[in-house]
Amino acid sequence: MRSRSSWGIGVIGTGGMGTRHVENIHRYIKGAHVAAVMDVDHSRAAHAAEESGAQPFDNAHALIHCPEVDAVVIAAPDPLHAELTLACLEAGKPVLCEKPLATTAADARRVVDAELTLGRRMVQVGFMRHYDPAHQAVKTAVDSGQIGRPLLFKGIHRNAQVAPGFDLTSDFVVLSSLTHDLESARWLLGQEAVEVYVSGTATTPEFGPEVWDLQVVQIRFQGGGLASIEVYVSAHYGYEVVAEVVGERGTATTGNGHAPWIRREGTCSRPIGSDWLARFQTAYVAELRDWVASLSRGDLSGPDAWDGYMTLLAAEACIRSIRSGGPERVTVPERPPLYTRRA
Ligand SMILES: NC(=O)c1ccc[n+]([C@@H]2O[C@H](COP(=O)([O-])OP(=O)(O)OC[C@H]3O[C@@H](n4cnc5c(N)ncnc54)[C@H](O)[C@@H]3O)[C@@H](O)[C@H]2O)c1
Repeated sequence: MRSRSSWGIGVIGTGGMGTRHVENIHRYIKGAHVAAVMDVDHSRAAHAAEESGAQPFDNAHALIHCPEVDAVVIAAPDPLHAELTLACLEAGKPVLCEKPLATTAADARRVVDAELTLGRRMVQVGFMRHYDPAHQAVKTAVDSGQIGRPLLFKGIHRNAQVAPGFDLTSDFVVLSSLTHDLESARWLLGQEAVEVYVSGTATTPEFGPEVWDLQVVQIRFQGGGLASIEVYVSAHYGYEVVAEVVGERGTATTGNGHAPWIRREGTCSRPIGSDWLARFQTAYVAELRDWVASLSRGDLSGPDAWDGYMTLLAAEACIRSIRSGGPERVTVPERPPLYTRRA
């Protein structure tokens, strides 16, 4: 990888997340500019192009091969992630791919195998909680030994609602929402999942009686750690993400963002937002900043394709558990030296 004065970034998919990446690169990231944008919805691509001065494309592969594009952000729908990432690797362009890396573990493994063939890591996965100061503080507390050996990860992940008209499935909840929490658990505990069990309930009649929009996931990890995760995508009251690690001598928890407690007239209250973009804005900017710095260094430091693959192995076991109604094993493959564990 080369050092350059400004990296030309191409963004594929300019919906909610992609547009935020375009705005963040354009406004906040030194050493990078948005060179190209692409969306099948031309009006969205045109809007993002206008905002950033980028060239709009109507074909993802044309964007990937554009000489002004040095690296690519993929924020198109989940089922497109693996193929687009592989196309970027074939073109020799580094990628920041939104989570999940793929919609099957087999496709994530194809990305890992492509990197192993190249002999270098070129893919970062958009697990932005790694860049959230509250999550980083928990990670520091765990790694410094302050709370003793980590025993249990407890996660809460609630969305106010699913977009009206969206055809929700239980699998989508696992692949699109729970993957964030599976990654948080393995990252904060420093262990891989070996057994998962999912129970759930259908709380929203419009989705159908079999769609679990509230899921409770129990996990056993290779090193003896445990996890208990609630994912609820129809929580109505707001958006909330909480991660807690219980250790042998104490606990560390993220709390939920930075909103102050207000005490007045005999009440104590604290606002809860409904917008994940606002809750994690600091993390999205830090993620892009670190990724662009890593392009110049030629050495990725963020969550990589192996993290994306491990998360999908656990996610697939969760989907099997929803089908079988019982616990399901995860077979953890050996970690290749290319993916030596980093802090
Ligand atoms: N890291 C996070 O916190 C986070 C949060 C939300 C979403 N995401 C991920 O970001 C991705 C986008 O999610 P979103 O919420 O922005 O969804 P969205 O529906 O708002 O945007 C997706 C965009 O992709 C476009 N698109 C559809 N098919 C395409 C194609 N073939 N080529 C190019 N563009 C295409 C759509 O027109 C749309 O504009 C998803 O993979 C999602 O899982 C990550």
